[in-house]
Amino acid sequence: MMFAKLWAELLPVGRDEATGGYRRYSWTGSDAACRAWFARSATQLGLRTDCDRNGNLWAWWGRPGGQQAVVTGSHLDSVPDGGAYDGPLGVVSAFAAIAALRDGGFRPARPIGVAAFTEEEGARFGVACLGSRLLTGAVTPDVARALQDRDGVTLAEAMVAAGRDASAIGPDEELLAGIGAYVELHVEQGKALADLGAPIGVADGIWPHGRWRFDFAGRADHAGTTRLADRQDPMLPYAATVLAARDVAQHYGALATFAKVVAQPGAANAISSTVQAWLDARAPDEATLDTLVSEVCQAAGTAADLHGVAVRQQCESVSPPVSFDPGLRDRLTSVLKAAGTAAPVLPTGAGHDAGVLAARIPAAMLFVRNPSGVSHSPAEHAEMADCEAGVVALTAVLADLAAQ
Ligand code: GLV
Ligand code: MN
Ligand code: MN
Repeated sequence: MMFAKLWAELLPVGRDEATGGYRRYSWTGSDAACRAWFARSATQLGLRTDCDRNGNLWAWWGRPGGQQAVVTGSHLDSVPDGGAYDGPLGVVSAFAAIAALRDGGFRPARPIGVAAFTEEEGARFGVACLGSRLLTGAVTPDVARALQDRDGVTLAEAMVAAGRDASAIGPDEELLAGIGAYVELHVEQGKALADLGAPIGVADGIWPHGRWRFDFAGRADHAGTTRLADRQDPMLPYAATVLAARDVAQHYGALATFAKVVAQPGAANAISSTVQAWLDARAPDEATLDTLVSEVCQAAGTAADLHGVAVRQQCESVSPPVSFDPGLRDRLTSVLKAAGTAAPVLPTGAGHDAGVLAARIPAAMLFVRNPSGVSHSPAEHAEMADCEAGVVALTAVLADLAAQ
């Protein structure tokens, strides 16, 4: 089957031997290798490839621009040491579904596109779904160009180094106007489907979520000679903030995570001068998310005062709640039902390009069962039989949407 072939070809790209996780960061060597794989796969299927002004990849069956296209796909970048499925499953399944349609003699009445959006994870430049946000105008080009990676390289510099024209990034109304629907297949990031005994699900909506950077500024000093009372140690309010975030999230039925932290100067025998840390917060609704974040900020301020440390917070990206197009969602559910698959409808706390695109075009998502629910980890997994069921489901959906 085409899925297994394309999957096997992509699998080694950007995988770290020691951890087994993926490090596919945008505009790096592994990203270039993913892009080359995309181009090769599309060409093998006779699709015409294109890279838009924002660096998103497209492969077309038919010419976009006339009839409104049906687009499917996902992303190829990863979080640090991410799993194999988050993103690539949707892109590989898209190519495999097109191969199945071709083999079955299907003649689309409208163009079918495969998209791979750039920097979906925000792992290099900090803003999740950067490629789809640029495409839809949800982030301004100047702000995006100035985003920096951890080495201070800007997005503009990284794009230029990869041979792209960073001055051309920004909304692409013409491209968007040619798309009638976007359907993203994704590995489930949770185990609702496993608990329900269902291989395939349909997304209902996405919780509002975002990232906030906390900068704690204290004073570097000697770990062996500075009396506890004389310290201005930024690690202490940081630690108090981590615990407060957990309590506040628990209280509101929400999620709050500190997982990325940088302490300077980073010596074992020196009190830190600064601690920079990122809060990832997600909640069922916007009011709860706002309350959660403001309570975590208050806790950080109180703890910082107690320890003679300064603290500043800055929102790096925020995604409003998404309710996927009900008509498209119900259409997917009934197409799958007609094909013999009862697909439960599920909400998710994970962000996706489909959520960004949903603000502009009808969008929907299919989830493929993840037996353990683990994601953003090398342990992320889906059984091959379920991946193949995903391809069958996506094939049926594309056949329906592109039939007239
Ligand atoms: C994307 O995977 C996210 O962080 O939700
Ligand atoms: Mn992800
Ligand atoms: Mn993803």
